[in-house]
Amino acid sequence: MCLAVRSYKVQENKMKQYQDYYFKKAKQENYPARSVYKLQEINNKFKILKTGQKVLDLGAAPGSWTLFCSKKIGPRGQLVAIDLKPIEIALPKWVVTFQGDVFDPDPEITAYLEQVAPFDLVLSDMAPKTTGVKFADQARSYELAQEAFFVAQKWLKKGGHFVVKIFTGPDVSSLQQELRQVFQQVKQFKPKSSRQESKETFLVGLRKK
Ligand SMILES: C[S@@+](CC[C@H](N)C(=O)[O-])C[C@H]1O[C@@H](n2cnc3c(N)ncnc32)[C@H](O)[C@@H]1O
Repeated sequence: MCLAVRSYKVQENKMKQYQDYYFKKAKQENYPARSVYKLQEINNKFKILKTGQKVLDLGAAPGSWTLFCSKKIGPRGQLVAIDLKPIEIALPKWVVTFQGDVFDPDPEITAYLEQVAPFDLVLSDMAPKTTGVKFADQARSYELAQEAFFVAQKWLKKGGHFVVKIFTGPDVSSLQQELRQVFQQVKQFKPKSSRQESKETFLVGLRKK
């Protein structure tokens, strides 16, 4: 085997071990997806989750972030989770889930949000179905992130926080600029548990003005 191929194989194996680590950890800890560790890292860094908070989780299925948040906010908190797909895991009674489109929510969802608002934290891990066409995927991810930002501005309280996933590309700095108009501080963060080959990154808007 030539040196280049061997070094590629070593790297590939390392990456698989790394991926398996989070996958297995999620299974052991009864989370439906490894994505929970991204939110855990975001929370360790920015301390956005506290007991008693009201949280809105957009693009929440299969429910790892929702389950993690529900434990952090506890029974005095309220959590609303929305996704196009059903969220089928068992969740505590202070969590309400809806199947719906964040772009075009049913009146039932809007009425419920009005009842719970204002929120302390809005999360969006929404992702488009990827096509493999880089620019198309980036554009769709930007659209989802902008929609999440629109929702966050509507429902967040003053001083509230916002976390949004976006695929890396020129739009990240545009969205960052847009967030700076609304939040006192805006940070970009790529969790270690996010796959190296994944193009995703997260913007964190702290303390809504
Ligand atoms: C990466 S997954 C979220 C994983 C989730 N945070 C977890 O930890 O289990 C992205 C989700 O975004 C959802 N999504 C994409 N577009 C959406 C939209 N317009 N409205 C609601 N959900 C959407 C998808 O259905 C998908 O379940």
